[in-house]
Amino acid sequence: MKPVTHFHPALRLLHWLMAAAILAMLFIGVAMVATVSSLHSLLVAIHKPLGLMILVLVVVRLGLRFSTATPPLPESLPAWQRVAAQASHWALYAMMLAQPLIGWAVLYAILRPLHSLVALVLFATVMLHLAAALRHALVLRDGVFESMSGTRRR
Ligand code: HEM
Ligand code: HEM
Repeated sequence: MKPVTHFHPALRLLHWLMAAAILAMLFIGVAMVATVSSLHSLLVAIHKPLGLMILVLVVVRLGLRFSTATPPLPESLPAWQRVAAQASHWALYAMMLAQPLIGWAVLYAILRPLHSLVALVLFATVMLHLAAALRHALVLRDGVFESMSGTRRR
């Protein structure tokens, strides 16, 4: 059977919706701890429900991920880049799952610093992921970006 060329439409929708939500959460989180004004409670009031939405969505997303066919990376890609892509994708899934759970239990003295640490590692991984995605879209033009954007090629 011919391998699929694109992620399932529901996975693509979830990818972009969650990318926006997670980026917003990172900035809201930082703004939250840097603010003492009345804005603080407003930011907390957004941060908590949005974080829980991310938790629910990642569970749905992982369910779909394991039950649909996913496009293979191009043969032309060096082995180390394939390994790096897979490792970073599973790290992103793990952090999307863990971060809301840690945030929820934030009262515990150990988990509060852990929430900051995971936020930092998540942000760094997202930046690397963004750089790699743009390299595929603009330099390599190998269909990897389109597999998630849903636009044609390949
Ligand atoms: C993907 C989900 C989440 C992300 C990316 C995220 C991100 C962040 C970031 C960046 C900070 C600031 C950390 C610092 O600079 O020390 C923060 C703080 C915090 N987060 Fe989250 N968070 C998420 C989910 C949650 C959830 C679900 C809850 C609670 C239900 C939560 C509760 C908190 C609390 C209470 C703080 C500290 C606020 C303060 O000290 O004023 N977070 N979060
Ligand atoms: C918070 C932000 C983001 C998170 C958490 C995230 C997470 C992920 C994850 C977990 C995958 C793996 C999909 C799978 O195999 O199931 C993925 C794939 C992908 N992402 Fe993101 N993403 C984010 C932002 C972005 C941005 C901003 C772009 C582009 C500018 C992008 C482009 C892509 C592309 C092209 C793929 C497909 C890679 C492949 O074919 O293996 N992502 N993303």
